Amino acid sequence: MVEGTMTTDVPRHDELVDERLVRWFFFAGLTYLMASMLGGILMALQLVHWNPLTGVELFSAGRWRMVHTNAVAYGFLANSFLGMLHWAVPRLTFRPVASVKIAYFIFFAWQAIVVSTAVGIVVGPSWQDSPWVADLARRTGLPISLGAQGLEWGETPFWIDPIALVGLALVAFNFMTPIARARGPMYVTLWYFMAAFVWTFLTYAMGNLLPEYAVGGTSAGAIGGLFIHDLVGLFVTPLGWGMMYYFVPIMLKKPIWSHGLSLVGFWGLAFFYPLQGIHHFLYTPIPMFLQYGAVISTIAVELVVATVVINFMGTLWGRSRILVDNLPLRWFYAGMVLYFITCFQCALQVTLTFQKLIHFTDWVVGHAHLVMYGVFSQWIFGMMTYLFPRLIGREWESRKLCEWHFWLSLTGISVMFLDLTMAGLFQGYYWSSLQPWEASTIGSYPFWVTRVFAGLMMFAGFLCFLANLRATFAAGRRPATASGSLAASV
Ligand code: HEM
Repeated sequence: MVEGTMTTDVPRHDELVDERLVRWFFFAGLTYLMASMLGGILMALQLVHWNPLTGVELFSAGRWRMVHTNAVAYGFLANSFLGMLHWAVPRLTFRPVASVKIAYFIFFAWQAIVVSTAVGIVVGPSWQDSPWVADLARRTGLPISLGAQGLEWGETPFWIDPIALVGLALVAFNFMTPIARARGPMYVTLWYFMAAFVWTFLTYAMGNLLPEYAVGGTSAGAIGGLFIHDLVGLFVTPLGWGMMYYFVPIMLKKPIWSHGLSLVGFWGLAFFYPLQGIHHFLYTPIPMFLQYGAVISTIAVELVVATVVINFMGTLWGRSRILVDNLPLRWFYAGMVLYFITCFQCALQVTLTFQKLIHFTDWVVGHAHLVMYGVFSQWIFGMMTYLFPRLIGREWESRKLCEWHFWLSLTGISVMFLDLTMAGLFQGYYWSSLQPWEASTIGSYPFWVTRVFAGLMMFAGFLCFLANLRATFAAGRRPATASGSLAASV
């Protein structure tokens, strides 16, 4: 090959990637995380009667619980993943996204969707009583509700659903086009990303449209269960693991340990995950054969995803000292250990024997925080810790603040998880021994107080990250290298 041919044939990364857009998605994601964490702390305070906003209806716990979860899923996780996709997909395919204009449109449209959802949830119930709403409902024959829809994770007001679906279709189009045009190997990361584009669209459509317009009763319940679990398994999980398959080999500078295990992990997820959603509604009137099917496929998927963790541990084998200095990798591997614990816990808690005790207790809330914060948010923090210096063009201003962010977050989530797991066990025993309901709330009180402090610890870690980010932006420009010294510095 004539010297220089490569440089003319292969576009440079900075020509392929719109770094401003990556930054914008990250900033948007962090803004929603701030809102969600404040909402979480507010709720945690309300649950121990330390409500700083007593009597303000707009800040009632019911509304802010929905803002808390929606802001995390559709605000923080979705925006952060979109930023990451804009960084990784053009690099893996040597092709830019289908259209930069569409990418910017998606950015603004997505923020409008998330903000409208929050506004709908918080003030929708107050507007609902207006005469024009009743009039519109009568004229269209539709169950018009300006507030939240009665479906967990699908609370997005009904009029936003079609817009969100168009947004998801555009996301799929914009990223699938470079993938379809790419020549050369189809990396594991891209399998996961492609699957996520298709599954997220289908999951969102199924969960938001079918129970609302097509089916009712236990069938709607079954679909609701499928929807909440598929959101984690078919939207967040493939994007999260795809991200790991991209960043970990780059940082370790070695290939993934076993390609065979990558195949097992991917196809196992694809086969077993969609079958297990009904495990959220065990002991309900949903037919038992569906409940048994969900239990078995849940145990199966936990075994399958364990192979993915083993694959990444095999990749790290012999190099584990790197976790002392390399913070992004430390975030990733800490998340993977917590992922393993989540899966192990899940395989146990899904059994009918276990469910007798922990169903509807705080055990489940502990589990939800462990996976959403302990795993996926930690991976996102690791990814941002690695990418922000490259996006800003300078190293992190304070290594100490990076360390504080990591340790406060990890300690905070570990305390919250253990605390809520114990609370769940106590609540289960209170209820099964048929003590009065109040006995269980009095017994839960110390655990709920502990949750406030665990949450504050996680929040303090996040503030360290934001302070560091601000300082890094503000600091004078320092030479950044493309050779990886930035990675070494974190
Ligand atoms: C500042 C720290 C946080 C505090 C104090 C907090 C507190 C809470 C509270 C009080 C609930 C309602 C529990 C209930 O209904 O009994 C909740 C639910 C939830 N939170 Fe948080 N949270 C925090 C951060 C986060 C973060 C960062 C995430 C995700 C990345 C998250 C994900 C969730 C999820 C998924 C649920 C629903 C749990 C379920 O339905 O089982 N939380 N949180």
